[in-house]
Amino acid sequence: MGLLLTLSLCVLACLFGGLCILSFFRQRRPGEPPLDKGWIPWLGHVLDFRRDTAKFLQRMTQKHGDVFTIQLGGFYMTFLQDPLSFGAFVNESREKLNFHTFSRQLLKTLFGYVGLTTDHSNFVATNQKHLQGHGLQIMTETMMNNLQNLMLHHLGSGANQNSWKEDGLFNYCYNTVFRAGYLALYGNATAQTEGDEEKARAKDKTESEVLFHEFRKYDKREANRLLSFFWDTLSMERMKSKENISGWIWDMYHMRREEGMKEFMIDRYMFVQLFVFQSNTGPSSYWLLLYLMKHPDAMEAVRKEVLMVLKESGQEVRPGGPLVNLTHEMLMKTPVLNSAVEETLRLVVAPLVTRSVLQDMTLKMADGREFLIRKGDRMAVFPYTAVHTDPEIHPDPFTFKYDRFLTPEGTKKTDFYKGGKRVRYYTMPWGSGVTMCPGRFFATNELKQFVFLMLSISIVTYINLLILCLNTFYRCLP
Ligand code: HEM
Repeated sequence: MGLLLTLSLCVLACLFGGLCILSFFRQRRPGEPPLDKGWIPWLGHVLDFRRDTAKFLQRMTQKHGDVFTIQLGGFYMTFLQDPLSFGAFVNESREKLNFHTFSRQLLKTLFGYVGLTTDHSNFVATNQKHLQGHGLQIMTETMMNNLQNLMLHHLGSGANQNSWKEDGLFNYCYNTVFRAGYLALYGNATAQTEGDEEKARAKDKTESEVLFHEFRKYDKREANRLLSFFWDTLSMERMKSKENISGWIWDMYHMRREEGMKEFMIDRYMFVQLFVFQSNTGPSSYWLLLYLMKHPDAMEAVRKEVLMVLKESGQEVRPGGPLVNLTHEMLMKTPVLNSAVEETLRLVVAPLVTRSVLQDMTLKMADGREFLIRKGDRMAVFPYTAVHTDPEIHPDPFTFKYDRFLTPEGTKKTDFYKGGKRVRYYTMPWGSGVTMCPGRFFATNELKQFVFLMLSISIVTYINLLILCLNTFYRCLP
């Protein structure tokens, strides 16, 4: 026992020594950005970075300027914090800055998914077919049906209303958008397998509820048990008994099957997709609604627009009533709501857009400076601090202004400036460049549909919504 302990300590000491030596050998070369390795060997700044990414990066920017390299858990990551130079990052060739080398490693570590070399080309084709144009319209309609089934059809009688009034606002929004999104993509139970339509709808409700609760628990501690649960629940074997499965999910399944991927690996991929498309939309729907509740002028402007679009289509939303045909076209007539969505995402979404550096390269800044970036490192931009909350680009950046992205004429505003120069990347909740979130149109529609329904439901339900919000209102504000 004593010998074992001594041996283990020796191994640990050697490891630590090795890491210290590795860190020591990395020195800044001429032409490279400032290098900050932090004081913990190998780990570098990882603890501070994880604790509060925005604050940490602001501190680093103050110390080193708008380009710097830091050590993070064995990697060296160069941050570019000058929004006027973002083009050099997002438009760099895939041979130099590559997202997929980085994401493949991440998917293997987090989800046990090992992809094929053809994954990316198949992926782009599927996204173009189903997340844009006609495919997007179909998915948006399916989403609407599922949203209404979840939101309106269990509110029908007064007795039922208590069950949702007691829920917190965050949970209500996340739950509703998550479950409707899941059903829209992975399909509904059928009347054939369940007995009748009503039972099929009930099955959808209970199954999606369980999935949501498990999804919310997904963290490091329970990861292994939950991974097995999701692989099983989302397995294609189970999916095959459903109807209305989205073309997006089907195509991803078939393409992998044709390339010879094993069924269990495809099941793992299905969870990757659930994770990717569900992590942000539910929380964003909560923030959007909360900001509207907190700003009566914004609520009034959006509500007016929603009711006008609905009236023009000759429809009305009633709990228990017929489903509303909220078409893609109707969703395109809401510039005020669009601006409120964009403003919400500016304030609450903070992606770290990361690439692997595959070749030594030169980063050319907008002001003419140049930096050498090393092969094997990573590069990243963090738009939240560099753009979203920069007071020069977005004055009074921590205040929600629903019309920030509207021109005086009521059209979409796209001209924002820093130092007198126009900023092309004035918000980046979806990332940018070739890997920009392919689900952004669908996600925006989801948020708009949810708010559309919330604001157009009958006055009785609206009052219930207010009670629901007031329950959590003051506790939730940032
Ligand atoms: C508010 C909701 C959402 C936000 C803020 C968001 C944001 C993002 C961001 C920042 C990225 C990484 C981009 C990069 O690194 O350049 C991404 C990737 C991705 N998103 Fe979204 N997303 C949302 C919803 C969705 C939805 C609903 C879907 C699917 C229907 C989706 C599908 C994807 C996929 C498949 C990728 C990976 C792209 C790739 O590997 O090239 N997202 N998303």
